[in-house]
Amino acid sequence: MRLVCEGLGREIASKEVLRVLLAPSILASDLADLAAAAEVCAEGAADLLHVDVMDGRFVPNLSFGIPVIRALARRTSIPLDVHLMVEEPSRLLEEYLDAGASWLSVHWEATAHLDRVLQQIRDHGAKCGVALNPSTSVDVLTDVLSQLDFVLLMSVNPGFAGQEHLPYVVDKARRLREMIEKRSLATTVAMDGGIGEKTIGRAVAAGVEVCVAGSSIFGAADPLKAMRRLRALAEGAETC
Ligand code: DX5
Ligand code: ZN
Repeated sequence: MRLVCEGLGREIASKEVLRVLLAPSILASDLADLAAAAEVCAEGAADLLHVDVMDGRFVPNLSFGIPVIRALARRTSIPLDVHLMVEEPSRLLEEYLDAGASWLSVHWEATAHLDRVLQQIRDHGAKCGVALNPSTSVDVLTDVLSQLDFVLLMSVNPGFAGQEHLPYVVDKARRLREMIEKRSLATTVAMDGGIGEKTIGRAVAAGVEVCVAGSSIFGAADPLKAMRRLRALAEGAETC
């Protein structure tokens, strides 16, 4: 077995083993103690800390805002992967970036001027990504794919942690991976929603390189052990 992934920008040949990046989603942690959640993630060598921003409009729920991102960035050295589930993310984009987002994704469904937003993120030096709802086809990204550092495939309907993984999104990951490889792009495929012991293997086998996991880590009796188990399962999965 050969590890082929050292972060972003590598080529992935079939039947090779990915080094999957693990991004715990702190939405599922004890929200009264986010610093403790970040510490557990550091101990478990999390690659990214996934931070869900919700506006109560694009999704029905509310969660973290800019002050929380800023506070977290001060308390952890893990890069923050900020997932904006907000209408018109361009309105506060600079603020999210200044607050400490290293990776920033906006929803295709919520962004009128996607090209401009992507440029703004890149100009700031952050990794730019587009998130797709489960029912949105990967084909909508054909023309912007080469501009993206990553695509975040939602495998639940966004808005809440702890929902059941939608298996058909794994096929979307496979199709997206094919699109990326056909054009020799370096775009990373990420998946978010219902990723746990039962689902991570299939996701990775389909070409997912960043696994966002909330409840399966923070809902476990031992989050550290859960992270190690997920990593082991991910690294044992073969791409296909
Ligand atoms: C859902 C969020 C996810 C969520 C993941 O809207 O974007 O990041 O917190 O949580 P689990 O892993 O519990 O589905
Ligand atoms: Zn998310």
